[in-house]
Amino acid sequence: MDAPLPFERFMRDALYHPQKGYYSRRIRGVGRRGDFSTWATLDDSLARAIAGWIRGRGIRRVIEVGAGDGSLARAVLRHLGWWRRLGLRYHIVEVSAPLREVQRKRLRGCGIVWHESPREALRGFKGSASIFSNELPDAFPCRVFEKRGGEWLELCVSPSAEGSVETLQPCLLPESTVFGHAFREGCRVEVHESYRRWLEEFAPEWTRGEMLTIDYGNTMPGLYHRRPAGTLRAYLAHQMLAGSAVFEAPGTRDLTADVNFSDLEAWGVALGWQTVSQGVLGEFFGAWTPGVRPPAGFEGAATAFRFLEQRVAAAGGSC
Ligand SMILES: C[S@@+](CC[C@H](N)C(=O)[O-])C[C@H]1O[C@@H](n2cnc3c(N)ncnc32)[C@H](O)[C@@H]1O
Repeated sequence: MDAPLPFERFMRDALYHPQKGYYSRRIRGVGRRGDFSTWATLDDSLARAIAGWIRGRGIRRVIEVGAGDGSLARAVLRHLGWWRRLGLRYHIVEVSAPLREVQRKRLRGCGIVWHESPREALRGFKGSASIFSNELPDAFPCRVFEKRGGEWLELCVSPSAEGSVETLQPCLLPESTVFGHAFREGCRVEVHESYRRWLEEFAPEWTRGEMLTIDYGNTMPGLYHRRPAGTLRAYLAHQMLAGSAVFEAPGTRDLTADVNFSDLEAWGVALGWQTVSQGVLGEFFGAWTPGVRPPAGFEGAATAFRFLEQRVAAAGGSC
């Protein structure tokens, strides 16, 4: 049996290892024929609301991060209509080579420019651009902690031929709002610390604009209400798998955990960003497509998903 790896490292390899990772190699698309669907691949109401946000905030330079199969970008551009003629520039940051190919096919002729990192994209805009993502932070590797004997221990995984073995190890805790709340013995929580590092990487390049983050999750303490085992899970062929299935056959399935929006806000504040607005996604629809309700079948998702809008505080203004 190999030495135990922190779960975050296991998840990073399972999703992004250059040869064996799910997003690097296996994924061929998102949607009905993929392993999982996103709101954007099933219905274009989200794209309509995002287009309303872009127009309403006067945004002309857009960076979409993690564009999946390109459905969201295509629908956003369609709903932007005449706004595109005002010199809109639409760039995408995507790490998955197979998905970049799918996006290039779907978005051929739309004038999109692709980048491998937000840093690179922001440099192209001299730091002045607005950024948005849907279901991005949940795709970042997370650290998992379990409360034992009144202390938080970190979940580690020892891969072996007979299946992975879970162990708990003492650790230094990351900065997270989760640890300021009371939890019972045996509870598990996740922290997307790798997403925080990712924000810190491009923050020095970002001088002007807004950032809109949409994902499933909640603020604290609601995130773990009645969820003592945490929110970590896998998706394979549209089936949700929890427990030991998360550790099986790494690279063959998507792994994800709900997003702690209190952390996203706190990490942004630490970087000098201002919170402009936030809430459940239904409220975002209300603000940017007034009178349009989430379509039938999406009512639950409109409250399970949240949005957070941040702005670089020093410069202010849209771009
Ligand atoms: C769950 S999918 C969401 C796809 C799309 N936004 C949608 O709504 O259908 C996550 C996307 O984020 C991309 N991704 C993950 N980590 C990334 C990173 N560090 N930078 C850019 N894209 C990333 C994945 O390759 C994938 O395209």
